[in-house]
Amino acid sequence: MNRNALPIPENFRDTILRCFKADGEAWLKKLPDLLETLIRRWELTDCRVEKNLSIHYICYAHSQRYGDVVLKTGVPHLELYSGMDALIYYNGRYSCRVYEADREHGAMLMERVSPGTRLRDEADFQKRIKVGTELAEKLPLVIHEPHNFPLFQAQMEKAFNRARREGCAPDAFISMLSLAEKLYEEIKSLDRQKVLLHGDMHHENILKDAAGNWKVIDPQGRIGEHCLEAGRFLLNEWGWFDGIGDLKLTTKCLDAFADALGESRRTIASACFLDYALSSCWSLEDGSSPEVLEEPLRQMTTLLEFVK
Ligand SMILES: Nc1ncnc2c1ncn2[C@@H]1O[C@H](COP(=O)(O)OP(=O)(O)O)[C@@H](O)[C@H]1O
Ligand SMILES: [Mg+2]
Repeated sequence: MNRNALPIPENFRDTILRCFKADGEAWLKKLPDLLETLIRRWELTDCRVEKNLSIHYICYAHSQRYGDVVLKTGVPHLELYSGMDALIYYNGRYSCRVYEADREHGAMLMERVSPGTRLRDEADFQKRIKVGTELAEKLPLVIHEPHNFPLFQAQMEKAFNRARREGCAPDAFISMLSLAEKLYEEIKSLDRQKVLLHGDMHHENILKDAAGNWKVIDPQGRIGEHCLEAGRFLLNEWGWFDGIGDLKLTTKCLDAFADALGESRRTIASACFLDYALSSCWSLEDGSSPEVLEEPLRQMTTLLEFVK
């Protein structure tokens, strides 16, 4: 395999340096050799890099043993490992299979969901909601044995404390964090069993296979109450399909998830509010400017109608 065959796009380098700083720089230096090693070890041919990379390097390839596959690797960090572990736990249930994993190098070889039509490209609202609610209901698992998955509550506390300390976010957002904490206390008081959540279950991480089954890819893997799985899906539903500030549509979406998960409309609204709060803190940590908070703040204000 000629190492020049797999390009490392310039904008991918920039993102890695912005998000991971010195660790990212060190990893980028090693990436060409790592790819070459993995391609040789896993006997891959016909390797092509995905055009829209974010913080992971994704390449499509053919494997003699497994057929069409995806090689995914990234800067070793907790989320990469918890994501790998979550897919291994799902074991192909509503998800792409993991064929090989190299934990030391933070790399895995997965089933390629093919043709891989994204739920984001499904124009019908009812169909999108049906897929989202079914997956949110069925995917989460109870983990009985000791594990290393992060806890939602710990992630939330860490991110909120950092946002408060660093003072980059507008007061209007910071004041929402106390309410988010109160809403999480309310969810905890319901005393639901904690489950392994996908944690990033949105329409670009849900792909359709040739048999018409929708499968998830790219979990973050975290432990929390089942209702929290609704948050990431609905945030993206509203953001991508023009739902921000639309009270009627918001109600419809909340009710669909409330029905599927056996929770109240208020609980699902709280889960969404929490996800806006947490994911916005993470966007700031990744170097985004405070303007990214405008949309979350607008929809958090809409959600106040359901949680005040
Ligand atoms: N198993 C897979 N099958 C088919 N396409 C995939 C698979 N894994 C990733 N992809 C493609 O690569 C894109 C990015 O992969 P993803 O694992 O979601 O990484 P990121 O962390 O960058 O979002 C996906 O949106 C999808 O188009
Ligand atoms: Mg993804």
